[in-house]
Amino acid sequence: MIICRSVDELTQQLGSNRADIQSVGFVPTMGALHKGHISLLNCAKTETDFTVVSIFVNPTQFNDPEDYEKYPRNVENDLNLLETEGCDLVFLPSYEDIYPQGTADRHYDLGNLDRVMEGPSRPGHFNGVAMVVHRLLELVKPTDAFFGQKDFQQLAIIKYLVSSLSLPIVIHGCPILREPNGLAMSSRNERLSAAQRENASTIYETLKEAKERQTDFSSANELREFVINKINDNPYLQVEYFELVDASSLQEVDDIAHAKEAVGCVAVYAGNIRLIDNIQFYS
Ligand code: PAJ
Repeated sequence: MIICRSVDELTQQLGSNRADIQSVGFVPTMGALHKGHISLLNCAKTETDFTVVSIFVNPTQFNDPEDYEKYPRNVENDLNLLETEGCDLVFLPSYEDIYPQGTADRHYDLGNLDRVMEGPSRPGHFNGVAMVVHRLLELVKPTDAFFGQKDFQQLAIIKYLVSSLSLPIVIHGCPILREPNGLAMSSRNERLSAAQRENASTIYETLKEAKERQTDFSSANELREFVINKINDNPYLQVEYFELVDASSLQEVDDIAHAKEAVGCVAVYAGNIRLIDNIQFYS
C-alpha cells in the first residue's frame, strides 16, 4: 500500500502508476475507520482497478471547534486496517495541501439542498464538505468516487456538486452498514453508553416498521408522527427531525401514495450524541 503524506507525493505516485490503470476509485474519509468505511473501499475495489482512500479531518465542516478537536484520530490503526483490506493508496494531506489559500474563500451553490434537514442546525457544514471534496477530487482525479447512503443529504449534495461543476467522475452511493442490532455504524457510536447503544436500535426498527406499513398511513404527516412518537417513546432517544423527502431534490413529499423515490431521514439525540439514519421507501 502506497502512503502519500503530501500533494507532491500524491502527484508523483499517481503519475507513475497511471499508465496501466483504467479506473481509479476514491473514498474520502475523516479517519477513525470502521466497517462502514471499509464497505465503501470494498465497493471501490469491485468497481475500479486502483483504490485511493483519503484521511483528513476537515475543520471547515465542523460547527463547533470543540467537536473538531475531539474528533477521534487514530491514523496508525487506520493505516493497518487499510493495508489489511487491500487499499492501493492512502492520501494523508496536510491542512496546507487542502487549503493553500486559507479557508475563508469559496461559497458553493448547492442548489438549496443544503437548506433542509441537517442544514438549519449545521450552518456552513455542507459548504465545508463541498470545499474539501472538490479539492480532493481535483487532486486525486478519480474516475469514480464512493460515498455512504448513511449520510444521504451529503451524498445528494456531492452528486449535485459534481454535476454542476461538470466533473467527469461517477458518484456511487453505497448501502448503510449496520451494527448487529440495526444501529447505523458511525464513529460516534463509540461515545454511546451500553444502554444508549442498545436502545438506539429503536431508530432503525421504527424506520423499518414505517416502511413496512407505508400503505397504512393516509399522509406523509401521519407517517412522520408515527416515526417521531415511536422513537420518542424510548426514554433514551429524542428526535430532532424526521422528514420524508424526494431522493434527488430533498424536498418534502406530501403525497405518500405517489412518492416514487422517497427517503425517510431522521436525526435523533441519544443523550448529547446526535445520530442520523435513513430508509428508502422504494427498492
Ligand atoms: P466520514 O464521516 O469519515 O465518512 C466517510 C464516508 O463513509 C462517507 O461517505 C460516509 O457516508 C461513509 N459512511 C459512514 N458510516 C457509514 C456506514 N455505516 N455505512 C456506509 N457508509 C458509511 O463523511 C465524511 O467523513 C466527510 O464529510 C467527508 C465526505 C470525508 C468530507 O470531509
